[in-house]
Amino acid sequence: MSTTAEEQAKLVETSKRLAAYQAVKDYLLPEYTRVGIGSGSTVVYVVEAIAALGPAVTSKMAFYPTGSQSEELIEAAGLDLQYISKLPAGRQLDVAFDGADEVDDDLNLIKGGGACLWQEKIVAASAKQFVCVADFRKLSPSLGTAWKKGIPIEVLPMAAPRVLDELQRMGSQNPRIRPGLPGKAGAIVTDNGLWIIDAPFAPLLLSKGTEPGDGNNGVWTVDALADALIKIPGVAEIGLFYGKNGLQVASGAQKPVAAYF
Ligand code: 5RP
Repeated sequence: MSTTAEEQAKLVETSKRLAAYQAVKDYLLPEYTRVGIGSGSTVVYVVEAIAALGPAVTSKMAFYPTGSQSEELIEAAGLDLQYISKLPAGRQLDVAFDGADEVDDDLNLIKGGGACLWQEKIVAASAKQFVCVADFRKLSPSLGTAWKKGIPIEVLPMAAPRVLDELQRMGSQNPRIRPGLPGKAGAIVTDNGLWIIDAPFAPLLLSKGTEPGDGNNGVWTVDALADALIKIPGVAEIGLFYGKNGLQVASGAQKPVAAYF
């Protein structure tokens, strides 16, 4: 029996909601005081699940957004809004929750469908634990299988043509500058005043090898591609959240400790 579009949409929302409530139940401990909140439609349910715990649990907690959307969610839920820029050096968030566009079997992620990837990576990397919350459509054996729009890459506008050239040289099929939201001409402009390039690559190999490299018959591993993309002049940040050979990358916990679907 095939499901209608309406039934499918309901299923997706139910999946996001259940995943969010379970993630909050498992990872938001009452003793926590600093919590990161990511962006997108799934974190709406994360904030709902947190608010449902009531002030007895949440009143001692401060919440750190990744952008204006999560800022509004935190405020609307009556939670204490704080900013990562004010988090003193040496301090970390206890946990950060965020959505994803795609999650592979090794919990590497593609993020940035909402153009907040740079702040999202900073918040995730500032947390002792980063927890990914998504719906069943996002899980795939290898990145690039489910999310076909390409890896979001935040770039300096003046560098965009050179970055597009380099991405093509690296094997990206038809990388393009993300257009503005409906009704807005030109490129989308991020909260950082930069542009987003979406770069589709053939599905990536998991980062299980001992050496990153661009061998593998022209198919990139997650690690090797991430290393190469971030080195392109003009690239500010990339939407690959990954771990090296099963380890967290040195810059922080950008790979989640758990993913909920
Ligand atoms: C925004 C993101 C989001 O987490 C990602 O796009 C998932 O969004 P949604 O929960 O709406 O499916 O990375 O930059």
